[in-house]
Amino acid sequence: MSRHGAKLLSPDTPGLVTLTGGSKLVDVDDRTACATLTTMRYLVPALALALVVFGPHSLSSQTQSPQRYETRANHDPNGTGTFYMGREIAQVMGPGGIEWLDRAQRDTEEHPSLVLDALQLHSGEVVADLGAGSGYFTFRMAPKVGKTGKVLAVDVQEEMLQTLKQRAAAKRIANVQVIKASETDPHLPTGTVDLVLFVDVYHELAYPYEVMQSVRDSLKSNGRVAFVEYRKEDPNVPIKEVHKMSVGQLEKEMAAVGLVLVRRIETLPLQHILIFGRR
Ligand SMILES: C[S@@+](CC[C@H](N)C(=O)[O-])C[C@H]1O[C@@H](n2cnc3c(N)ncnc32)[C@H](O)[C@@H]1O
Repeated sequence: MSRHGAKLLSPDTPGLVTLTGGSKLVDVDDRTACATLTTMRYLVPALALALVVFGPHSLSSQTQSPQRYETRANHDPNGTGTFYMGREIAQVMGPGGIEWLDRAQRDTEEHPSLVLDALQLHSGEVVADLGAGSGYFTFRMAPKVGKTGKVLAVDVQEEMLQTLKQRAAAKRIANVQVIKASETDPHLPTGTVDLVLFVDVYHELAYPYEVMQSVRDSLKSNGRVAFVEYRKEDPNVPIKEVHKMSVGQLEKEMAAVGLVLVRRIETLPLQHILIFGRR
């Protein structure tokens, strides 16, 4: 789906607001209401036809909607050239990155046991590993939630999903469920998830606002969202700039979807662990 396509389909797109806003005109006098209804009778099918003939991008540009995402020609070569709330979105790591995700020295560099300590998982919980990749954290969380719990391993790339399925079968792990996400929707069940974990993922979401709205809706009332991201504030962290995230930037982006920082854990050498909950 193109960036413009997703924008148009989002519920707060002005083009769509204009259409549904017609029903608000019932307070005016009967003649005006009648004229409005007549206009709407022709306008609605005309706009529907425009969508079919010209596609969503055409309609989006006609309505001059304010852009949530901004494209800049001048940008970091490791980024996509698309900016969200002043931050450039990074390029997605492809399946060639599996070897790097599985590298032997990762345990000593990233201390996954400290991440698991910070998450405080309990038996029976439903947790999502969003952007699970090859399952580095999926298969570490599965024993923590036990047979009565579940890990939803979510990814947007088919190669990652196949790897996750093969590894779950080879390890005979029954409490891992693999879910195919779209760029705008992780397809998590509504109101049922205790924790959504993003490790080294958030900065590369093509549609962070849409994904986080869906993540927020997936949470139980006391559900949490945990991010593990390389520290942008520290120039000595040896990671490309667009793959880092600052605490202030993440707080700003989460506020836009009604999530607030509840815990900040700085036990890792290179990464923040930031835990958010519903406001
Ligand atoms: C750098 S890898 C990290 C993988 C894993 N979290 C780890 O730490 O080993 C980022 C992963 O996020 C996935 N991803 C990117 N955008 C996504 C989206 N919108 N929904 C789900 N997964 C996504 C990519 O396909 C990739 O597997």
